Amino acid sequence: MLEITYLGHSAVKLKGTKTVFIDPFLSGNPKAAISPEKITAADVVIVTHHHGDHLGDAYAIAKKTGAVIVAIHEIVVEASSHGIATEGMNIGGTVDARGVRVHMVTALHSAEKGNAAGVIVEIDGKKIYHAGDTGLTYDMRLIGEFFRPDLSFLPIGDRYTMGPASAAKAVEFIRSKKIIPIHYGTFPGVDTDPQEFKKRVGAKADVIILKPGETYRL
Ligand code: NI
Ligand code: MN
Repeated sequence: MLEITYLGHSAVKLKGTKTVFIDPFLSGNPKAAISPEKITAADVVIVTHHHGDHLGDAYAIAKKTGAVIVAIHEIVVEASSHGIATEGMNIGGTVDARGVRVHMVTALHSAEKGNAAGVIVEIDGKKIYHAGDTGLTYDMRLIGEFFRPDLSFLPIGDRYTMGPASAAKAVEFIRSKKIIPIHYGTFPGVDTDPQEFKKRVGAKADVIILKPGETYRL
């Protein structure tokens, strides 16, 4: 049983035999479900790209819990300078971080350092795709064919990422039967309607709309 908790914006927690955080932007996040001070245990912290609303509290959580940061090379160089355990990687690669396998895939987006990326996380026999920030791209078709993710997190906030219409198209490519929308409703400019996304996806997949703090069991 994998417990998937939405923490607001693009921040998620996966809790199985290991505890994984992805893009833990909590301090300064008006929709954060938990304050970083409340996090006492983590094995792996994954950062999809070097933007404040994704890097967030990653270093502070890793320092406090002893978790390993998994990210693109340029982020890991910075994290290592803070004395944090790291697993550096790049797009196309796979690492095993404390028993959690992380595959890094393309994302169409910018970043302060290195490139933006998405990840497929393999934990307890399940494959979870977190797209990070990205526009719609045919590469998602390859991600669907090759990885067949059981569940996918897709940004739907528009402006900086896909919006409801393009993200609904992405669902056709990714082939996940379960989709959780992220990166919306956090601040002005990304306040799209997840119900519109769900409507557009229709019967193609189950769209699971989580409020910050809610948990879905896979
Ligand atoms: Ni970004
Ligand atoms: Mn973002």
